[in-house]
Amino acid sequence: MKKTVSYFKEAKKSGKKITMLTAYDYSMAKIIDEAGIDGILVGDSLGMVALGYENTLSVTLDDMIHHIKAVVKGAKNALIVGDMPFLSYHVSVEESIKNAGRLIQEGGCHAVKLEGGVEVLDKVKAIVKAQIPVMGHIGLTPQSVNLLGGFKVQGKSKEQIKKLVEDAKYLEEAGVFAIVLEAVPDEVAKLITESVSIPTIGIGAGRFCDGQILVVNDMLGLFSDFVPKFVKRYRNLKEDIQGAIKEYIEDVQNGGFPEDIHSFKIDKTIIEEIKK
Ligand code: KIV
Ligand code: NA
Repeated sequence: MKKTVSYFKEAKKSGKKITMLTAYDYSMAKIIDEAGIDGILVGDSLGMVALGYENTLSVTLDDMIHHIKAVVKGAKNALIVGDMPFLSYHVSVEESIKNAGRLIQEGGCHAVKLEGGVEVLDKVKAIVKAQIPVMGHIGLTPQSVNLLGGFKVQGKSKEQIKKLVEDAKYLEEAGVFAIVLEAVPDEVAKLITESVSIPTIGIGAGRFCDGQILVVNDMLGLFSDFVPKFVKRYRNLKEDIQGAIKEYIEDVQNGGFPEDIHSFKIDKTIIEEIKK
């Protein structure tokens, strides 16, 4: 079944949990989509997970479009959301609409996501007015890493919690169809989730959110530079993959690969005639 932004909104009403993962390329998007996920985010975590950057700040709009295209080709049913990278929605409203439009028009995703609350409301409203579905993202917003002083849990003080609830309400009013809550205490996420009628998608935000998202490389054990507390490792694919690669190396060195079944054959007499 094809998932739409309406599905996300309906899911909250009916109490069905929403499932999301990130993806950055065709093969992984296809695997995730065929497994039945509701939504795929082409996150700007792309920078850290696929491009080896230290944070998400160096990711460009062209990087995003390049990878969104690949994910769109791989996924048939999931709602595909593309992250707006750092500085692509911070300057003018007009530029923000154009940049969101490029992700849709050139990348082919169905919706865009951008970080922030009340500070980005004018941009959110304008993009929604351009008929582009927008997903919000509050709590730990990695593009603000230098302002926040690191990747830290947000929403611990009374003021911070009040601001998060307000931000969520403003974002809903501005027309976002869902909000990612990243790295906030579970009771704070619960409060926010109960304060809005659009779904909250948690990452490091506990069990009370309307849905969950994880970075696919984290949950599969493919990315091991660091593992946040909130990640559940469902597999250790790094080990599996390295095991396979070591077998391959051994096989090639010992003549175990390739075998006859991997080889193309012709009538041997032809070779013998050439040798004559
Ligand atoms: O870029 C990303 O992967 C994200 C998710 C962690 C929500 O923004
Ligand atoms: Na992101």
